[in-house]
Amino acid sequence: MKRAVTPGTFDPITFGHLDIITRAAQLVDEIVVAVAASPGKKPLFSLEERTALAREATKHLKNVRVEPFDGLLVDFAREQQAQVLVKGLRAITDFEYEFQMAALNYQLANELETVFIMSPPQYMYLSSSIVRELASLRSPVDQFVPPLVADALARKFVE
Ligand code: COA
Repeated sequence: MKRAVTPGTFDPITFGHLDIITRAAQLVDEIVVAVAASPGKKPLFSLEERTALAREATKHLKNVRVEPFDGLLVDFAREQQAQVLVKGLRAITDFEYEFQMAALNYQLANELETVFIMSPPQYMYLSSSIVRELASLRSPVDQFVPPLVADALARKFVE
């Protein structure tokens, strides 16, 4: 069985993430969406909230499972017996950072192959922080996130 891990902080999950997850799910038998604790990023949503939103947003994808993790990504991928790490590449600006992470992960676990999927043009500028900023300014975010995520954002920013 070919299993891939798609990691991220998912604070919160967006249509850009969902696009990568959906396309990756067509390439392997199972996808484990790995929601990182990422305490250094001081997420708006708790790890439990981010995991629940990602689960709900991907529940129509039968070979996708969502799990929280804390610690090293390669350890989590090994625990899950995954052979592949899938990352989305949005623009050339992502490349240097992703290149560094892929090289480091390869150094730590060379049995894990990192595969990049290009984001389509309509999602190339999208990021979770842009969505959080728009929501904090009461700007609609429906074109960037599923309705349940838009609702969760609206609840975070009520006075
Ligand atoms: N569509 C929309 N947005 C995307 C996207 C896509 N396809 N791909 C990335 N993004 C956004 C993310 O939402 C994030 O936005 P933000 O910074 O505004 O919140 C930003 O681009 C950066 O994404 P990414 O580089 O994937 O970072 P991340 O924080 O989502 O995830 C981890 C990084 C969790 C994969 C990484 O920190 C990790 O592996 N941590 C575990 C610890 C570890 O193993 N460290 C050593 C790694 S070498």
